[in-house]
Amino acid sequence: MCGIIGIVGSASVADRLVDGLRRMEYRGYDSAGLCTLHEGTLVRRRAEGKLANLARVLEADPAPGHVGIAHTRWATHGAPTAANAHPHATGEVAIVHNGIIENFKELRAELAAQGRLFESETDSEVVAHLISAEIERGADPLEAVRDVLPRLRGAFALAIAFRQHPDLLIGARLGSPLVLGYGPEGEEPEMYLGSDALALAPLTQRITYLEEGDWVVVRRDGAQIYDSENNPVTREIRASGASAAAVEKGNYRHFMQKEIYEQPTVVAQTLASYLRRSDNSVALPQMDVDLSQVRRLTIVACGTSFYAGMVAKYWFEQFARVPVDIDVASEFRYREPVLEEGGLALFISQSGETADTLAALRHCKANGQTIAVVVNVPTSTMAREADLLLPTHAGPEIGVASTKAFTCQLAVLAALAAHMAVKKGRLTRDEESLIVRHLLEAPAALNAALDHDEDIAAMAPLIAPARDVLYLGRGQDYPLALEGALKLKEISYIHAEGYAAGEMKHGPIALIDEAVPVVVIAPSGPLFEKTVSNMEEVRARGGQVVLISDAKGLEAAGEGCIATIEMPVVHPLIAPLVYAVPVQLLAYHVALVKGTDVDQPRNLAKSVTVE
Ligand code: M6R
Repeated sequence: MCGIIGIVGSASVADRLVDGLRRMEYRGYDSAGLCTLHEGTLVRRRAEGKLANLARVLEADPAPGHVGIAHTRWATHGAPTAANAHPHATGEVAIVHNGIIENFKELRAELAAQGRLFESETDSEVVAHLISAEIERGADPLEAVRDVLPRLRGAFALAIAFRQHPDLLIGARLGSPLVLGYGPEGEEPEMYLGSDALALAPLTQRITYLEEGDWVVVRRDGAQIYDSENNPVTREIRASGASAAAVEKGNYRHFMQKEIYEQPTVVAQTLASYLRRSDNSVALPQMDVDLSQVRRLTIVACGTSFYAGMVAKYWFEQFARVPVDIDVASEFRYREPVLEEGGLALFISQSGETADTLAALRHCKANGQTIAVVVNVPTSTMAREADLLLPTHAGPEIGVASTKAFTCQLAVLAALAAHMAVKKGRLTRDEESLIVRHLLEAPAALNAALDHDEDIAAMAPLIAPARDVLYLGRGQDYPLALEGALKLKEISYIHAEGYAAGEMKHGPIALIDEAVPVVVIAPSGPLFEKTVSNMEEVRARGGQVVLISDAKGLEAAGEGCIATIEMPVVHPLIAPLVYAVPVQLLAYHVALVKGTDVDQPRNLAKSVTVE
């Protein structure tokens, strides 16, 4: 979603602002802009579409100045046009905003009644006008921002520049992330604002994560942070650890491809921090939570993270015999879930900033739940609000389509389910040891799955012309069918649906004809024959089946399929991690055939920070 960067610099900022925006491209956007301060004027440049368009505008019409703010916009209110692109400016102030101002209609009506003219359809522009109105009434910038912030309902990260104050930016956050960066020591002083540490990576490694409700007055030589009650506060300065190289593709064609290939390594890294090889036991971080007392588990997440939770439901129920409720975050709060005092609620997120998941987390916290979070960004809001933090160690995931975060989430969730089972006395030491040994086989099995990349690339042209594709799976392969369909839709724009294989006869089988490829995920094992029966029902109606299975499964049922994808023989526990690879690669290669924008598919944002 929208990305923000601001620099109070000691040298020209326009190029560095665009460079920062480039590092936030992965968040998803459809227009961009910047505003610098130069000789008492606000110099604004904006463009629809990709950053290359903004770069062209700047080439024709540069924006000089040592202070500036910039923004990539993912449209919510108003089309992705240059007029709706940020920064929004009046004569006195320019602002960039990430989030949604929910009460913008009433604020806009009030401002319009005062004779203020709006030039965009956005919710964000009201912020520029509200602050401007205060300044025109004689307030200084601090007073103006302090008085306006409580009037905004919704979510915001803001960076604000003031025409008459060439050494000042003000930032604020509520519900959307914002970090403050301190210029490198020993150099000319500079200060920065950014949506995330990656945006600031080449500028500085010294950063402060602003807390909910914080606002900050940023000058060239330092900053003062205020909390939501306007008290001056000190927040920790940390080493960000974000590396500019993390946002490089290396020898890969796309970030998605790079991230698919990183899975053996990052899953191994993740497992290494949850499993003890010396005695083949699960070793979770120190925690105040007594897992032996958990009577019910509530899992909440969105998208791919939700599907990881669906797989984990099988594990928590099978190993720990704990009943699991699972829901997508956008529905969870609104169905008035029954949350028993003292329950455990588990949130899964790559970014740790997804607005719906965060809102659900806060709802659970307010209702007496202990909060466990499986998250890939350890400095994210969800990580900071967790009682039990369970990091995945996938490293920055840049491709919009989540891949390595998913398999790392599965690794952590399997370890957590086994640990809970041990604490509840449901697993013997031998059983725990066996589970750990199977999990430790995952990285090698992921490598073996990647060996089939070329075969999958070769069959992608069979799928690419389809209008609709179905994915089928049973048991823990059902969430994988959903994940396969999601991957295909989001990057190839082909309509795809995942179904529980046994559900086909209850409606979806009516969709089957020669034009609908059906991808069947069926490792050999206890459910194999039942899934194959469903597959035969599809084939009997002309359905074009692609079977993903191991050698044994392909030998038993591969004949007559339009294509098969062979996976290594693996224990059922790690099958969801291993079978994630072919569904990711299939989507990737189909997208290549179709020529879509793999890493930044249309309409999508990497981190969905609005509800
Ligand atoms: O950062 P999160 O894991 O909370 O994000 C959840 C979804 O937005 C995300 O998984 C989305 O569905 C991906 N684009 C799927 O590839």
